[in-house]
Amino acid sequence: MAVGSASDAPGSRSPGPRRRDLLAGGVGALGGLGLGGLAGHQAAHAEGSPARPASSGATGATGTGTSATADATTGPGALGRARRPFYGTHQGGVFDRPQAHGVWLGLDLVEEADASTLRRLFTIWTDDAAALMSGRGPLADTEPEMAAVTAGLTITFGVGPGVFDLTGITADRPGWLRPLPAFPSIDQLEERWRGTDLVVQICADSPLTVAHAQWVLLKDARSLARIVWCQKGFREAVGTEVPGRSMRNLFGQVDGTVNPAAGQDDPVVWMCASAPDWLRGGTSMVLRRIAMNLSTWEQADSVSRELALGRTQATGAPLTGQVEHDVPDLQATDAIGLPVIDTFSHVRRSMPHEHGGVDRFLRRPYTYDEGPSAHALSDAGLLFVAFQADLERQFLPVQRRLAEADRLNAWTTPVGSAVYAIPRGVREGEVLAEGLWR
Ligand code: HEM
Repeated sequence: MAVGSASDAPGSRSPGPRRRDLLAGGVGALGGLGLGGLAGHQAAHAEGSPARPASSGATGATGTGTSATADATTGPGALGRARRPFYGTHQGGVFDRPQAHGVWLGLDLVEEADASTLRRLFTIWTDDAAALMSGRGPLADTEPEMAAVTAGLTITFGVGPGVFDLTGITADRPGWLRPLPAFPSIDQLEERWRGTDLVVQICADSPLTVAHAQWVLLKDARSLARIVWCQKGFREAVGTEVPGRSMRNLFGQVDGTVNPAAGQDDPVVWMCASAPDWLRGGTSMVLRRIAMNLSTWEQADSVSRELALGRTQATGAPLTGQVEHDVPDLQATDAIGLPVIDTFSHVRRSMPHEHGGVDRFLRRPYTYDEGPSAHALSDAGLLFVAFQADLERQFLPVQRRLAEADRLNAWTTPVGSAVYAIPRGVREGEVLAEGLWR
């Protein structure tokens, strides 16, 4: 069956057969696209027959954005069985509680790709993600037993600027979907972490669940898209942090205190009426790989560290407060009249309420640690992941202020940068990002 025929229209067929057509009978449909990967796929198949959401660790909203997550953390195996819904208004992995493990896969479509390539890919991935998030091994999963441990799995898909160069794409190209402007004062971007045509974010509370989902999604895509990079991150394991306290990053700072809350701050993250249908309920993602220099941070005394941030290292409380969630007093001055929270401290430069309040966004960062090498004791930092409805009005002003002046810049260096559009959630019978193609 030719992909793209009327019988493939949304809702006209169940996801199973449609996917089977693509995987097993779709050689004709893949004409000219490098079929080695599909042959491999078939062979493998034959052989094997939220409150305060993001960083605070408290429960946030689900992928639907309407109800509490299904994360059950008590009872034997409960954490492993925790499921988050695939179908809903929004994709998961955005406003819900960040799981302990995450991986970001940057892919480029094969050179010959057109809109139908994208459609085929998202048809396969939609079925894969729906199955994996519900604890079932998708078709051609040769280790379906591994899918049973969902561990709060979320799989979030995004499209980069390159997708809009494909012929047959009908959706208006969002003006903001392009690389961030250069920030020469801080950036030392490496080509290997460049923006890609597609991103897949996979998060779960078990690293094995993440690895299995990654394998399934990549092998199913191998004739249609090529991997460019894989960035792995982690946070504290579930249950190891005091409830309500944010995670620590590798500088030892309490990180994630001030963040929008699901339910209360939805318009901060989700695009609404003015967005095209495939983005209405979607968002934008900025992924910055920021190296953190542990060797020079080690040499900084506690006064310099806290001055640079504007919060205490021990509890994450603002320098004018006692506990993490105290509101910073920006007017407070010390004995010689200097602001207690320094003018160039990270929190003062990044906080929105000093600058009109529009520039808020959701941070969902993960730590990365590639370990030591013969050249350096550490290669570590933050996978800084930000979600916002309006990248230009919310994220960019903050990033510009930080690039201009932020004491923390002395120890941090952005080495990767990418921007993606995150389509809205999927309704049953639909393919993710429908509306992008003809
Ligand atoms: C390695 C790089 C970074 C580190 C280690 C870091 C660390 C932190 C820490 C510890 C806090 C205070 C606690 C909190 O509210 O989360 C904070 C706050 C914040 N950071 Fe960063 N950050 C980094 C990069 C960035 C970047 C690139 C941006 C934006 C472009 C950003 C935006 C913010 C914002 C908006 C806040 C909250 C400010 C407030 O309203 O109080 N950070 N960061």
